[in-house]
Amino acid sequence: MNEPKNYASVELNDVWKIYKNKDNVIPALSRINCSFKECSFNIIHGPSGCGKSTLIRIIGLVETPSLGEVLIKCENTSDQPQKIRNSIIRDEIGMVFQGSNLIQTLNAVENLTLPMWSSDNKKAEDLLKKVGFNDYNKFPNEMSLEEEQRVCIARAMVNNHSIILLDEPSGALHSKEADQIMELLLDLNRSEGLTIILTTNNNKLFQFDYNLFEMVDGTILKK
Ligand SMILES: Nc1ncnc2c1ncn2[C@@H]1O[C@H](COP(=O)(O)OP(=O)(O)OP(=O)(O)O)[C@@H](O)[C@H]1O
Ligand SMILES: [Mg+2]
Repeated sequence: MNEPKNYASVELNDVWKIYKNKDNVIPALSRINCSFKECSFNIIHGPSGCGKSTLIRIIGLVETPSLGEVLIKCENTSDQPQKIRNSIIRDEIGMVFQGSNLIQTLNAVENLTLPMWSSDNKKAEDLLKKVGFNDYNKFPNEMSLEEEQRVCIARAMVNNHSIILLDEPSGALHSKEADQIMELLLDLNRSEGLTIILTTNNNKLFQFDYNLFEMVDGTILKK
């Protein structure tokens, strides 16, 4: 079993995100300071519109902060060109966006082999087995929402990333299925040593140890 380490996998220093459109300035994130330890399990919780998706996209380097620093494995990504940030994403970060995002014309195994460096069906099947999905040839439109979520989680692991980010992974699921997805993530956190960071607006508390980050209006309240 992997215990959380004493060093940060991800660190945010004074991060702001301000969206501007014609009439409005929207401070989606205001001076965020937080860190996520290697091998830790982290839940970012807050109501709709508080900035959870913005924060997870900034941690995942698919969006840049207006101000502030994002460090991944101690490397400051903020001043790097997107090309370097892309290589950090490729090497370190697996993301599960809100909704399924599986490619409808590909079966489960093919959805996993597509983002691999070199297509490896055996590895894809092993990962699908690991997330409890054994119908390797099923297409997304034949899967339940929970099954789709399992396949998305397996896909986020194909390049051996150690940081897995998930935006509302259980948002569309009934509570029993949501619990099963959380159990799967906990199991992967412990057995594979993954750093898990997920968002939720579900008020139900889970019965295991995790770091809780409460968000309100673009800020993180002290834990
Ligand atoms: N691309 C954008 N352009 C302008 N405003 C944006 C953009 N993305 C997000 N916002 C605004 O930033 C704020 C935070 O949005 P965000 O989607 O991060 O919240 P959230 O906590 O993920 O909400 P939900 O629980 O509904 O998914 C909201 O006011 C939203 O309207
Ligand atoms: Mg969101």
